[in-house]
Amino acid sequence: MSNSQTVKGVVALKKSEPVSVVDIVIPAPGPGEAVVQVQSCGVCHTDLHYREGGINDEFPFLLGHEAAGVVESVGEGVTEVAPGDFVVLNWRAVCGDCRACDRGEPWYCFATHNATQKMTLTDGTELSPALGIGAFAEKTLVAAGQCTKVDPEARAAAVGLLGCGVMAGVGAAINTGAVTRGKSVAVIGCGGVGAASIVGSALAGASPIIAVDIDDRKLETARELGATHTVNSSQVDPVEAIREIVGHDGSEGADVVIEAVGRPETWKQAFYARDLAGVLVLVGVPTPDMTVPDIPLIDVFGRGGALKSSWYGDCLPKRDFPMLVDLYRQGRFDLDAFVTEEIGIGDIEAAFEKMHHGDVLRSVVVL
Ligand SMILES: NC(=O)c1ccc[n+]([C@@H]2O[C@H](COP(=O)([O-])OP(=O)(O)OC[C@H]3O[C@@H](n4cnc5c(N)ncnc54)[C@H](O)[C@@H]3O)[C@@H](O)[C@H]2O)c1
Ligand SMILES: [Zn+2]
Ligand SMILES: [Zn+2]
Repeated sequence: MSNSQTVKGVVALKKSEPVSVVDIVIPAPGPGEAVVQVQSCGVCHTDLHYREGGINDEFPFLLGHEAAGVVESVGEGVTEVAPGDFVVLNWRAVCGDCRACDRGEPWYCFATHNATQKMTLTDGTELSPALGIGAFAEKTLVAAGQCTKVDPEARAAAVGLLGCGVMAGVGAAINTGAVTRGKSVAVIGCGGVGAASIVGSALAGASPIIAVDIDDRKLETARELGATHTVNSSQVDPVEAIREIVGHDGSEGADVVIEAVGRPETWKQAFYARDLAGVLVLVGVPTPDMTVPDIPLIDVFGRGGALKSSWYGDCLPKRDFPMLVDLYRQGRFDLDAFVTEEIGIGDIEAAFEKMHHGDVLRSVVVL
């Protein structure tokens, strides 16, 4: 078996400080672990949350978690992947043994696997890998179950995005929201995650599919990806607009409304933009200081339906990644449209800046 090795990785050393490219030490894979040679990794909003201390205070973080690559080596007892396999990394390696897994709902698994050993700085300081992955690096150490084999002919920069944001968005629609043929859907916030919810809704046969954003560039992309209507909510009241679009049959809004911003005011819009007995899916991630907006309890009761959250699109990587990669390869899922630019490992700060200004769906580091 190989020894530990030193590679380049992008680390957030201190809260709110620019990230740096530094040498990191990758241990040889132990039992149940794999070392993956990273080929691509998308820049997700959550990486910025980590840098800002918005997730926890376990600095230094090894950032990056939307990745594809090739398995380089595996530890003892690993049978599901082998060196040379092309994989998308996931942050839901289900345990098969917790109470969620036991009751047949593994997408809620409460004890998902990550690597047991720690990657470190060269002075031995232990790194916290973002979402247990840490893939803004030439190589990373993960649990073998975090490697999902997919069609090796697929473009890494595109399919790696299934590792987080795109899967979260698609799954929010088809898994959590149970969008099917003929249902009406509205998506509030059409960044990488919301745009993926639009694709998921279109694949499921929903109609109409209403895209809501405050940025016309995002609305344009949403339309290209399958939205039938667009609403700029900085100009019009989105609740009224959604009701008008779907309300011809007397309904009070969309069957499913997906909130992909993560703010109280957009959650409230989503709440009231649902038809009676409709479903609200919160996939945007709020910050700890945010609270549920002031809504009369009688409205919660009276409007009925379901108020759900969607973690990682309630996905099962082994079931969902290969299926979505196949749709991509068949030309039915334009994953390439999500890759706004390919960048180098030293360009993460610039990518955060572009994300902040809404200039990109995804910047993707290519190694
Ligand atoms: N639940 C999960 O598993 C999961 C996974 C990945 C990301 N996320 C979260 O999803 C959210 C979106 O991520 P993203 O990568 O698409 O971010 P993004 O920055 O690319 O997109 C956010 C979009 O929301 C729009 N927006 C902002 N304020 C708005 C408002 N008031 N009304 C309407 N639109 C508004 C922006 O213009 C932008 O298009 C984030 O909170 C992110 O942390 C959740
Ligand atoms: Zn479990
Ligand atoms: Zn993410």
